[in-house]
Amino acid sequence: MKTIARMLILFLSVSAILFFWGKVSQYDPPQERRSCACDKCLFENGTLAFQNLSKFSQPFLSRNYNLPEEDFNWWRVIQHGGGTISEYRRNMSRVFQLIPANPPLEESIPGRCRTCAVVGNSRNLLKSKYGPLIDFQDYVIRINMGHSKGFEADVGNRTTHQVMYPESSSQLDNTTRPVLFTFKMRDIQWIIKNISTQPSRKKPLFNKDLVMVVNPAFMRNIHHVWLQRKDYYPSTGFMSLVLALHICEEVHVFGFGADSDGNWSHYWANEPKNEVKTGGHPGNVEFEMIMALTKHKVIEFYNGR
Ligand code: C5P
Repeated sequence: MKTIARMLILFLSVSAILFFWGKVSQYDPPQERRSCACDKCLFENGTLAFQNLSKFSQPFLSRNYNLPEEDFNWWRVIQHGGGTISEYRRNMSRVFQLIPANPPLEESIPGRCRTCAVVGNSRNLLKSKYGPLIDFQDYVIRINMGHSKGFEADVGNRTTHQVMYPESSSQLDNTTRPVLFTFKMRDIQWIIKNISTQPSRKKPLFNKDLVMVVNPAFMRNIHHVWLQRKDYYPSTGFMSLVLALHICEEVHVFGFGADSDGNWSHYWANEPKNEVKTGGHPGNVEFEMIMALTKHKVIEFYNGR
């Protein structure tokens, strides 16, 4: 009797072991869900791997967006542009009769890692030979008067996005996306006038179907959260860099850095010393932030020469 019981226990134990082993070998661990196909994704779970900076939900304006009053109040004083929120809303609704209801953003493509080159206008680009590296990225974002002609070897010759505001506008080709920053009510009126007079022009300044207007609430968020409210408001270059973190999964930064006298001198100009400085922008704080983002491998920074 004892022998039968022992054999039964042995049989049950072996069956249990075989059953368990079968389950273990069939086990398929859940696939890690990744938000991008790069080696490292920027905003995993909505925040950066640095200071827990969050992704801003709407960096560009769209037709149905309603700018909160507190964001408008920040915006209306940065360049003493004034105006009321109802005037702002009226003007923006006219803009959205002329441009697409939503910014022409491309969805992330699964299995792809979209890369951006953000090209600031520093003289450190001269003799850098960064041109091919800049052109190699999916998006090439240039800022204000930043351009290629005559500097191709150092700054590249592709431009997918041109960041500008009315005073720094330039003739774009039909495929470049104009990324418009507004700093005052007159800038919005400029957009309306510029687009509505396009039919009577020989060549429109830009393709109105590709226009993207940056959300003032996003600009305020960069000033308050990323730069801890330093100085009047962030530079267009710094805001473009943060914007790139929102539209690309990998961001390469070129052409940022003042000269030894603290001037934001430009690669195409021979400006007299001490005439440029960094305007009303927190140049040092921005640069420290760019260095910290580099150190934490959020961006790839290129020093230039
Ligand atoms: O001067 P501008 O606004 O045309 O330059 C574009 C951006 O490039 C600036 O807003 C600034 O962030 C950056 N820049 C820089 N160092 C320079 C020139 C420009 O970091 N020497």
